[in-house]
Amino acid sequence: MRNFDREKIIQNTPNDFPLPPEFINSKVPLVLEIGAGTGMHPINFSKSRPEMRMIAIEKTSDRFGKFKRQYDKCPQPQLLPVHAHAVSWVAHNLVKNSVDQIFILYPNPNPKKQDLNKRWHAMPFFGHLVDLLKPNGKIVMRTNEQFYAEEAESFMSAQWGLYTKSFEFLDSDVPEYKTLFEKKYLERGQRCYEVIGQKII
Ligand SMILES: C[S@@+](CC[C@H](N)C(=O)[O-])C[C@H]1O[C@@H](n2cnc3c(N)ncnc32)[C@H](O)[C@@H]1O
Repeated sequence: MRNFDREKIIQNTPNDFPLPPEFINSKVPLVLEIGAGTGMHPINFSKSRPEMRMIAIEKTSDRFGKFKRQYDKCPQPQLLPVHAHAVSWVAHNLVKNSVDQIFILYPNPNPKKQDLNKRWHAMPFFGHLVDLLKPNGKIVMRTNEQFYAEEAESFMSAQWGLYTKSFEFLDSDVPEYKTLFEKKYLERGQRCYEVIGQKII
């Protein structure tokens, strides 16, 4: 696989929303969420972990608008909602060995065979995400697609050198829903999957 070309992304895209300085502090744990949708997970996660800083990125205006309206009802200074394309924003703003945990929850599966390069774990950008992790840092993915979970675990381990764990769950197994998509899938009776890749160095 080709390497992620951070310099090219930086040259070709503007940095419309730079990282605020209070989010640059290596002593405070940093969490990143990619594809945050309407923000249910980042709002709840960051409320329950106020000692961490969290950046949650969503690219669509519609979903980000709902996220931001929800956030504005009860702003949390430790959570930064970002309206951007995650690849560009992350390339501009985050540096190696700075992130403790990355969430990618219910990404669009792009299931066609020829769309492998659109699935996060198979993109050169995923190698950049691994570089951003601190030692022992984790990437947590959730999906309702078994093929996606199996493929993600296989890439995390064989391509990206992460130590992996995975499990599956049904509606009756979870005390609360993490995201709106999770709620929709579990309420329909579907099985969901979590895959965790940990950077062991
Ligand atoms: C299927 S939705 C899941 C949303 C949320 N995580 C949930 O589970 O409810 C996937 C989300 O990822 C967002 N997304 C996809 N590619 C993105 C990118 N490159 N940067 C930021 N967000 C992205 C989409 O706009 C969409 O809101």
